[in-house]
Amino acid sequence: MNDARRISLDLSRQRSDIWVGNRLSSGLEKVFRNEKKGKAFFIIDRKLKKQATPWLKQFQQLEWNTHVYFAVASEKFKDIKSIFPLYQWLLQGGADRSSILIAVGGGVIGDATGFLAGTYMRGIRWAGIPTTLLAQVDSAVGGKTAVNHPQSKNLIGVFHQPSWVFCDGTFLNTLPKRDRVSGLGEMIKYGLAFSPHLFNHLETQWKKVISGSLSGQNELIYECLKLKSKMVRNDELDCLGIREVLNLGHTFGHALEAETEYSYFRHGEAVILGLRVAAHLSLLRKHLNPKKYQKIESFLSLLPVPSIPKSIKTENLISRLKSDKKVRNGKVRFVLLRDIGKTSLDDQVTPSQLLECIGHVRNEQ
Ligand SMILES: NC(=O)c1ccc[n+]([C@@H]2O[C@H](COP(=O)([O-])OP(=O)(O)OC[C@H]3O[C@@H](n4cnc5c(N)ncnc54)[C@H](O)[C@@H]3O)[C@@H](O)[C@H]2O)c1
Ligand SMILES: [Zn+2]
Repeated sequence: MNDARRISLDLSRQRSDIWVGNRLSSGLEKVFRNEKKGKAFFIIDRKLKKQATPWLKQFQQLEWNTHVYFAVASEKFKDIKSIFPLYQWLLQGGADRSSILIAVGGGVIGDATGFLAGTYMRGIRWAGIPTTLLAQVDSAVGGKTAVNHPQSKNLIGVFHQPSWVFCDGTFLNTLPKRDRVSGLGEMIKYGLAFSPHLFNHLETQWKKVISGSLSGQNELIYECLKLKSKMVRNDELDCLGIREVLNLGHTFGHALEAETEYSYFRHGEAVILGLRVAAHLSLLRKHLNPKKYQKIESFLSLLPVPSIPKSIKTENLISRLKSDKKVRNGKVRFVLLRDIGKTSLDDQVTPSQLLECIGHVRNEQ
């Protein structure tokens, strides 16, 4: 844990400490030195039993009373019916307000565990140990927790910040390539929205990111988290419009995910296609100059992302956009680009401009 770096987020109700490094479990003694030991309830992606063992052992050595639940990490787990029995599990294990819940897994396990922690006894503390690139650079930080409703993803949710987040690079050694691409999508989003330096770095290093051979992977994750933390710090409950910028690429990305029933694209893959649509709209709407658009498009179109299935109608995607959470007074608000690292908002995008941009992404695939 010697080389670990920390980002501290002072939030309204508590502090969130985010650690980035390798083999972070070896440093838990230091992190929990001033904590009164109690009960720790682990919810672990069952694929990660072996990798989670050092964490469990470390908590046991530090005299926490541990309880473990192994979960199947699919969207089905993010369902009130799947997590309802876990309230009983917590009750039976004697969980009280001094207990902590610990999520070991990707965004699915993190979102569901955070929701459970936020609703059990009106909220108990929780820690995230994100194990996918997407969860490490994005979903584990920010306190958005939720389960799905048959008609809408993440509909039933609560803001509940994790007290600790441990982004441990060693988990990523076993991550499949598609999930690396998915995490890369969110990293590129940060670069496009805030940092030309990060964007240029990813433009040259992306092959290493998705093959898992990048030596400075933890530094990149740290850089992304610094950017996200700043947004969260300034707009904890996503109500001031500051965090809205993080939706770059997500308006179209969400429509694609919904239209393909959340089973075809990884979240970050849909975001990559959404970023291409956003960049193209930025060009058509004259926010972005053609040279910058070309630079973005030449990079993004190289990435290995599945094609939009032929069975999905562009008109249906456009109707989905209109039912997006960001619709205000019937107008879809797009986060667009003025430059690499600079965003702008636009609610005047026309259906024909959307048709052109979506058509372009589809034809080029
Ligand atoms: N809360 C937020 O702010 C936020 C932001 C973005 C996405 N999300 C949510 O995150 C979820 C997607 O998260 P995800 O992409 O991490 O998916 P995930 O949790 O489904 O994990 C993807 C796959 O990788 C496996 N896996 C996890 N860690 C692994 C590892 N280290 N080695 C090998 N396999 C591993 C999982 O078992 C699963 O099969 C969605 O439900 C989405 O809504 C939430
Ligand atoms: Zn996202």
